[in-house]
Formats: sequence, C-alpha cells, structure tokens
Amino acid sequence: MLEAGMKPFPAQPMSFSASGPLKGAAEVPGDKSISHRALMLAAVACGRSRIAGLSEAEDVASTAAALRAMGVKIERADDGAWEVHGVGTGALLQPRSALDMGNSGTSARLLMGLIASHPVTATFTGDASLSRRPMDRVIAPLQRLGAEATAAPGGRLPLTLRGVCPALPLTHRLTVASAQVKSALLLAGLNTPGITTVIEEVPTRDHTERMLQLFGAEVQVADRNGTREISVRGEADLRPQALHIPADPSAAAFLAVAALIVPGSAIRIEGVGVNPMRMGFYDTLREMGADLHFSAQRMVSGEPVADLEVRHAPLSAVSIDRARAPAMIDEFPIFFIAAAFAEGESRATGLSELRVKESDRIAAMAAGLQAIGAEVAESDDGLIIRGSGGAPLAGGATIASRLDHRISMSFAVAGLRCAAPVTVDDMNPVSTSFPGFAAALQGLAA
Ligand code: S3P
Repeated sequence: MLEAGMKPFPAQPMSFSASGPLKGAAEVPGDKSISHRALMLAAVACGRSRIAGLSEAEDVASTAAALRAMGVKIERADDGAWEVHGVGTGALLQPRSALDMGNSGTSARLLMGLIASHPVTATFTGDASLSRRPMDRVIAPLQRLGAEATAAPGGRLPLTLRGVCPALPLTHRLTVASAQVKSALLLAGLNTPGITTVIEEVPTRDHTERMLQLFGAEVQVADRNGTREISVRGEADLRPQALHIPADPSAAAFLAVAALIVPGSAIRIEGVGVNPMRMGFYDTLREMGADLHFSAQRMVSGEPVADLEVRHAPLSAVSIDRARAPAMIDEFPIFFIAAAFAEGESRATGLSELRVKESDRIAAMAAGLQAIGAEVAESDDGLIIRGSGGAPLAGGATIASRLDHRISMSFAVAGLRCAAPVTVDDMNPVSTSFPGFAAALQGLAA
C-alpha cells in the first residue's frame, strides 16, 4: 500500500563527474511560475485558450489535474501547445476527490486562493515535502475574506478549504514577501464583488499582475516609494488568449552555472524570461565576473524574454544584499554552488524563507557543500562560503536530495567540477520542474 507522500517508484541515484567543456544550445522548460498562472487564468476565462511552451513538469501537471477535477477541459494539441476550455469566472465545480498537489507549493497556494471565492469545498494533499510547508500565510488572509479552512497541525497539508461566495473584497498587507500569497489573494479577488487590494512592502515576482492584464482583468498597480499596491476588480470577464510561455530562468540557472565552472564551456539558451523580478541571480553572477549576456530582448505574452549566452569565466566572491533575495529566491542553492568555486568569501543572509522551501535549503546546501569539500558556515538565515578559486572540489560524496529538485540539480552541477564523482541519492525530484535536466547536461557535454 502506498502511503501519502510516497512516490510510486524507487529512488533514482545518479553520479556526476568531472566534465569536458559544455558547448552548444540547450532547451529548458517553460517558466513554471508563469505556466501555473496561465493554466489558472485560462481555466476561468470564457472560452478556449491556447498555451504554447507550457512547462510539462510534474508541478504544473498537478495544477492541470486539479483544474480538470473542477470541470476544466485541458488537452495537448498535436503541435505540443495546450488548449484550455475556460469555464468563466466563478464557474469552477466541486471536485469529487482530494486535490493532490504533489510537491508543488505554487499549485497549492494559488489554487487555494482561486477556490476561496467559489462555492466549493476542496481538500488539498501533497507529498511529504509539501506536507511540511507552512500554509497559514495563505489560510489567514483567505479566512478574512470569508473562506474556512481546517488544516493539519501547524497550518499544514492535508487541509480542507471551504470557499465562500460572495467573498469579501480585502485590502491585505503582506506579512511575508511572497508572490504566492499575493497571487492567491488576487486570484480570490477575481470572483469577489468590488476591489481586492494587496500591498507588498518588498516587491515580488509580478507574473500574476501581468497575466491578469493580458486576460483583460482590470488591474491597477501603484508604486509608492518601493511599496506596491496591486488592485483587481472582481467579477471579471476574462477573455481567452493565445499565449507563449518564456523559457524558465530558474531552470536555465543550473546550466548557466555548469558552463561558468567548467573550463572551456560556452552555451546558449533561447527565449529565456528576463522579468526584472526574476533577475537577481543573473545580476549577482555578473557582479561575480561571469561572462554572461542576454541579447535580442523582446516582449512575449506580456513578459520580457531574451537569448542567453554563458561562457566559462573565473568568478569572484560576492555579498548579497538581502533586498535582492525575492528576485533570486529560487536560485540560492545554485548560487551557493557558484560561490563554492569562486575566489574569496561569499555571504548571503536574510534568507529564513529558504528554510521552508521544498526542503530546508540552508541546511541541505551546508551539509552537501561540506560533504564535497567546500568550506561553509551556516547561520540562522544564511551561509558564508569560502570558494575554491575555480579549482575542483574533492567530491566523492552522496548527497541527500530531500525531495527537492533544486538540491538534486545543484549537486549534479557541482559534480561536473569535482575530483571524484558526486552522487545525488535521488534524481526523481528533478521531474517536478526540469524533467530533461540530465539529458540537457549530457547534450551539452557530448
Ligand atoms: C513562486 C514564488 C516563490 C518561489 C516559488 C514560485 C510563484 O515562492 O519560491 O518557487 O510562482 O509565485 P514564495 O512566494 O513563497 O516566495
């Protein structure tokens, strides 16, 4: 019998060893954040949308499955684009069984928001990693608009959410800098009479705002000395769209660092999303001396995209200003790998959010880096790393991936510049965001 949170297949260990130069063009999946939002907004638009470049990773499949369970037809067309037959605002149906969110925090939190203003009761379940993550940050504001929730102790999954219709239009000031919480409330606002407003003191990724505008919702964004106030008018009639999803800069980040640390490498990735609120990692790499260029910037479906070129270059240490953290929140694991091969001591603090991602990423990265021979000091909210100056690290260790795709991919990349192979105990988690990751690395090394 399978228990909740167990994967129906065995761990997939894989070893990564010193590589020759990485060369050529690589493809990465469609942006995961934008893919979730595209499916959700298309689901509540009136009529058929087409989404090209949608991520086909497991996290996005969790969102699609939940929307299907609430009456939305979602199909893959012959040309690889996805067609979503939107049911209209407020018309999602009562699901007949629990919604399994797998490993995906974005699916869970955004769908909770979307459902909160529907007359629907839904139970959310997830794997062992997601069942440890805090949901109270979404539950509390959704309760203010009238939804009810019963969660496992600590405000965790499994939880049952009883939506309310009509919901109350809220003005909510975020207490955690979280695009997921912001988006949950804006999505709840879509089927709420009046205006729902979210105030964020620290700006976070704005894909929801951009995509709401694309689908024809009335959205206002006011910038007051760095504080952003985002309002959406409810009972919106969303118009179906033909969308193209940019390649995911957070997936490209792993290949970029692989190219930077392996001598002789030069790689190219086309059509990568360059939304300024996702660029903190690339800005940091440039400050470290990375040979990295975005060219041919253009707008695609309301998002800026560009072509990325990265060449091997010596890296120097950097201290990351905590204000930059939201713009590179998912890239810290692979940033720590880059820092481990840089010259000098890199510092990053103010990162307590990393402890509640798919794993405790501060602890996971500190343990893994020590195991492969890097010098690391862990604090409550960050890491200090003394880099090797570009020389190979020892390697020769097995790394616990902790159901976290970004831990698996980070140490796979590190293995390419280690004296002895690095074994990642399980590469299955990688399928949640970048199913073709190992093949893309192999393709570049061939
Ligand atoms: C995401 C927001 C971020 C990020 C996550 C995706 C999103 O989470 O870490 O991978 O799509 O809105 P938080 O909002 O919790 O910071």
